[in-house]
Amino acid sequence: MSILVTGGAGFIGSHTVVELINAGFEPVIADNFSNSSPVVIDRIEKITGKRPTLYTGDVRDVAFLTDIFEKENIESVIHFAGYKAVGESCEKPLMYFDNNFISTIKLLEVCEKFGVKKFVFSSSATVYGIPETVPLEEGMPLSCTNPYGRTKLVIEDMLRDIYKADNSMSIMLLRYFNPIGAHESGLIGEDPAGIPNNLLPYITQVAIGRLARLGVFGNDYPTVDGTGVRDYIHVVDLAKGHVKAIEWADKNTGCEAVNLGTGNGYSVLQIVSSFEKASGMPVPYDIKPRRDGDVAENFCDPTKAKSLLGWQAEYGIEKMCIDSWNWQKNNPNGYNN
Ligand code: WQD
Repeated sequence: MSILVTGGAGFIGSHTVVELINAGFEPVIADNFSNSSPVVIDRIEKITGKRPTLYTGDVRDVAFLTDIFEKENIESVIHFAGYKAVGESCEKPLMYFDNNFISTIKLLEVCEKFGVKKFVFSSSATVYGIPETVPLEEGMPLSCTNPYGRTKLVIEDMLRDIYKADNSMSIMLLRYFNPIGAHESGLIGEDPAGIPNNLLPYITQVAIGRLARLGVFGNDYPTVDGTGVRDYIHVVDLAKGHVKAIEWADKNTGCEAVNLGTGNGYSVLQIVSSFEKASGMPVPYDIKPRRDGDVAENFCDPTKAKSLLGWQAEYGIEKMCIDSWNWQKNNPNGYNN
């Protein structure tokens, strides 16, 4: 039986495909390579010794999806495919609504047609909006502060409604905190197009010399050192959380939201210092004004993941920084080496 992984050539998707193979599953990747590289497939084969089946196309295309479900014995789905840049979503909301909503609706329609009832959705901590308090627990109020976050929240609500209509389904809503790091082989990692929005790829590109200096967005937040605090989680830990989610879906029905984070918060300057120590590379920075939409602190209570899935993050911030640097050092220009 196979697992369809949409967006399986992406940063989190590719790491999840590796861990699915390691756990004895048979992942089938559907990806249009709009934000990933075909090189990733070769790298997954190099890491695992197995080449995942690949279908190249758009998840909004029903004929494309139907072809996959007719040819492959799909038992469950992990749905990563979607646009994910907060800032871009504010500039191009309609592009985000079309891609993220339509791909999910068409995928769910084809799942229904083929009787596939196990569905793991790539949600995000962004559905908590501007948190009243931390740590964040799954039952806390949900809201959205940008079109990207709105797509994640509305898709969660759609899936909750779908489960109410058919409680033979097994649905996992996995809320990621801040995924960083890379597989220890340095063969797969985060390869953002253009200037990175996120902190770690920006830092690694400064360290490798592609960017001159890091801009630290604000040092006047009510935090340990005035800079933003986030719950960084190693992408391999996150990937292993998806394997646990599939195992849960194999044994249970329901619709459950689960935080995937470490429960520990680190500030921007703490990350800079951890990275410099782990890599031996300087990261010069300047303090800049706050970034619109940023919150002071955002980290989770990971208790439910442990009790429901038997999962908890294993890697600490040093390993996250070492593996981030190892990926960038071995791939100075990402997959376009
Ligand atoms: C982290 C911290 C910034 C860049 C985003 C999305 C979220 C999720 C993860 C998809 C903040 C600071 C950053 C820089 C900086 N993505 N920073 N200089 O904003 O917590 O979360 O990515 O699901 O939905 O919103 O991550 O890495 O952009 O920022 O000072 O050049 O680093 O202010 O405090 P964020 P981030």
